Amino acid sequence: MTKLLEIHDLQTQFHTRDGIAKAVDGLSLSLDRGEILGLVGESGSGKSVTGFSILGLVDPPGRVAGGRILFDGEDLVAGGEKAMKKLRGKRIAMIFQDPMMTLNPVLRIDTQMVETVQAHADVSRKAALARARDALVRVGISSPDERLQAYPHQFSGGMRQRVAIAIALLHEPDLIIADEPTTALDVTIQAQILSEMQALCAQSGTALIWITHDLAVVSGLADRLAVMYAGRIIEEGTTAGIISKPMHPYTKGLIESVPQGKEHGTLLRQIKGMTPSLLKLPEGCKFAPRCPRADAACKPEPPLEERETGRRVRCVHPHTEPLAEEAAPT
Ligand SMILES: Nc1ncnc2c1ncn2[C@@H]1O[C@H](COP(=O)(O)OP(=O)(O)O)[C@@H](O)[C@H]1O
Ligand SMILES: [Mg+2]
Repeated sequence: MTKLLEIHDLQTQFHTRDGIAKAVDGLSLSLDRGEILGLVGESGSGKSVTGFSILGLVDPPGRVAGGRILFDGEDLVAGGEKAMKKLRGKRIAMIFQDPMMTLNPVLRIDTQMVETVQAHADVSRKAALARARDALVRVGISSPDERLQAYPHQFSGGMRQRVAIAIALLHEPDLIIADEPTTALDVTIQAQILSEMQALCAQSGTALIWITHDLAVVSGLADRLAVMYAGRIIEEGTTAGIISKPMHPYTKGLIESVPQGKEHGTLLRQIKGMTPSLLKLPEGCKFAPRCPRADAACKPEPPLEERETGRRVRCVHPHTEPLAEEAAPT
């Protein structure tokens, strides 16, 4: 069976006054139906641009300059906006960090949801409204009939995000791309929404790409993780495998900088240095300037190689021992 999503050598670039920023540079990735992938990395590593590229939402001065994105076998890059229009909102949906990217402030929720349903399904207003109501119930919104008649500003931030998630679910898409949708919410609501999303995806067989800078957030949710650095994937594997035995020094650093609770009052170990500017990337491994293991062997840039079954790592000096018990997130 074809994979739901296959990305081959994706290149997404921004033409700026100071040069070409290669925000995504040679990214390859695949996703099975119903699978949950956590796309993780520090701010600026190219996570959102990857999500936007899949949905055909990269605006000038940015463009997808190369590669193939196969969705259910269909090449979205070659198909252009015409192919994408048929899929976006129907078979592929996106949830943004800011729900107001989805919601229109001047329209009532029922109007927006009915419009979204009718954009891709030839159904009556009554049937569309019933579907909207059902979606609100599924994301845990009580008194949905009342809520349908409200405007976005009448909701709390958490509720607005739930409505945006309900809208993403309206057509039971095959794939949802969620770009840090819970980052602005408090921890309790964040945890609730995460576990609800997990249940909803399992119910409907929807695959999910959950984008976050916060490894702790996705480690309880995702089947697999892909860790990004400077527009590349530097490590990919099962969540359990990566959390217990990160092989790339960057991944290990990310895991060790997750707060443990029990270390209250002590300083967290942080990865030293800063993310490099895309316009001034070092030769060879892009992480080398920050890496405790870097040496002459880190030039030229290592390829993303399968080091163990299902584990790809872009490093010539990977860690091969499991993390010490006390360092692994609980
Ligand atoms: N509109 C833009 N114009 C110029 N460069 C951009 C633009 N959007 C993104 N970039 C570049 O792409 C990089 C990755 O951005 P992004 O995917 O948003 O990172 P994140 O991993 O935080 O989601 C940024 O650091 C920036 O260099
Ligand atoms: Mg982002």
